[in-house]
Amino acid sequence: MSDTDLTALIAGRRSIRRYRADPVTSEVVQRLVRAASAAPSAHNRQPWRFIALTEATAKERLARAMGARLAADRTRDGDDPEAIRRDVERSFARITGAPVVILVALTIGEMDAYPDAKRREAEYLMAVQSTAMATQNLLLAAHAEGLGACWLCAPLFCPDTVRGALDLATDLQPQGLVTLGYPAQPGKERPRKALDDILLVAEVAR
Ligand SMILES: Cc1cc2nc3c(=O)[nH]c(=O)nc-3n(C[C@H](O)[C@H](O)[C@H](O)COP(=O)(O)O)c2cc1C
Repeated sequence: MSDTDLTALIAGRRSIRRYRADPVTSEVVQRLVRAASAAPSAHNRQPWRFIALTEATAKERLARAMGARLAADRTRDGDDPEAIRRDVERSFARITGAPVVILVALTIGEMDAYPDAKRREAEYLMAVQSTAMATQNLLLAAHAEGLGACWLCAPLFCPDTVRGALDLATDLQPQGLVTLGYPAQPGKERPRKALDDILLVAEVAR
């Protein structure tokens, strides 16, 4: 692939939230996770883990548990019950409507251990950064395969619920969900900030 192809691939990726029912094969999922694992990682520890959910029962169990937790949290916030019901329904449909759902998690177990909180937090952040880089690889590889995908942040708000629903080991820290499938509709182009707003040139006094 030329640099131009890669640039076009990166620019053409969109978050896709609705999928056709066509199955995504396990070979495709394996290719995506292989692409994810090509990402750089701090100390090359590869702290990412990807838990693929393809069975309807697993997706429903996760969606139901997360929905109950969302409803409990929003009820505690004093939100409108009808708005909560719609939110829970939407979340359930998004998770169960995707042919494949990949839970993105990290494990801190193989990262460096420090006695002080400041360095422990830096190490944790490195694991998060590495896992996010791997997930971007996965999203781009999915796009290259003609698949649509979208990262959902919800597991970050209820890691214990996610671990419980999927019987995950306690050292796995849920970071997000990637829903995946062949697109039912093209994604919308979302605006990006102007280059001048994000590319800053340091002006150092001579
Ligand atoms: C960390 C992270 C969390 C996200 N969480 C959600 C989410 O919970 N629900 C959702 O629909 N999209 C979510 N997205 C997708 C963003 O909304 C999307 O990437 C952004 O609007 C830009 O659109 P694009 O991906 O089509 O370029 C998330 C993306 C990232 C990187």
